[in-house]
Amino acid sequence: MLEIHDLKAAYGQVQVLHGISLNVPQGQVVTLIGSNGAGKTTTMRAVSGMLRPSGGRIVLRGRDITGLPAHRIAKIGLAHSPEGRRVFPTQSVRDNLMLGAFTRLTLGGKRPRGDLQGDLGRALDLFPRLRERQNQLAGTLSGGEQQMLAMARALMLNPEVLLLDEPSMGLAPILVEEVFHIIGRLKAQGITMLLVEQFAAAALGVADYGYVLENGRIAVHGPAAQLRSDPKVQAAYLGGAASH
Ligand SMILES: Nc1ncnc2c1ncn2[C@@H]1O[C@H](COP(=O)(O)OP(=O)(O)O)[C@@H](O)[C@H]1O
Ligand SMILES: [Mg+2]
Repeated sequence: MLEIHDLKAAYGQVQVLHGISLNVPQGQVVTLIGSNGAGKTTTMRAVSGMLRPSGGRIVLRGRDITGLPAHRIAKIGLAHSPEGRRVFPTQSVRDNLMLGAFTRLTLGGKRPRGDLQGDLGRALDLFPRLRERQNQLAGTLSGGEQQMLAMARALMLNPEVLLLDEPSMGLAPILVEEVFHIIGRLKAQGITMLLVEQFAAAALGVADYGYVLENGRIAVHGPAAQLRSDPKVQAAYLGGAASH
């Protein structure tokens, strides 16, 4: 569904990704784990077209998307819920969600326009907190609620592939649990996901496969269950303890 081959990316003269390869098969959740500064967000930005790769190739649904602008990639079916809350603060929750579908609705989109009200309904079903706050201005939501809104907005694209960059960042523990529950539901709906998460144990719990990124290179990869029982991965990313 999404294949990344030998991806390289740089900010100015500073190379951050040194040729990484990842495969995200249809219907699976793949997680990308790594310390702060390893290059996880850079990977997500390069895949979604927010940052132009300096080398390598990205293939989405059989099409080479390397270097395409973000809106074209979105139209082919990839949605990116970026790190940090990126909502429109002076728009209502509902309008933020409608804006999320914009790329899909503009002329020239190759994907079906679908049923906007239906998609809004489904997004609000997944996030009951947002349903209750539909008419509230997004800027007045709590941090956790804004994070959920960013995720719900990405879903309004009705994506084939969803990139989630630290969806639980800054959330209270109960909301972290809710976010992982929602990721599980999206997986059950067949949405293909590439997930970056600081809670590596939880990410490996929901994922099928994982990659560990160290200084812009893939250090280890394997089925999620295998990574969870790998002593090196446990020591570096799972707090040294076995997890479930
Ligand atoms: N806009 C930017 N300009 C310059 N350097 C950046 C920028 N964004 C990230 N970096 C650098 O790229 C490296 C990888 O960052 P990032 O991809 O955000 O890591 P992660 O998401 O894994 O924490 C870091 O060294 C960071 O300082
Ligand atoms: Mg990051």
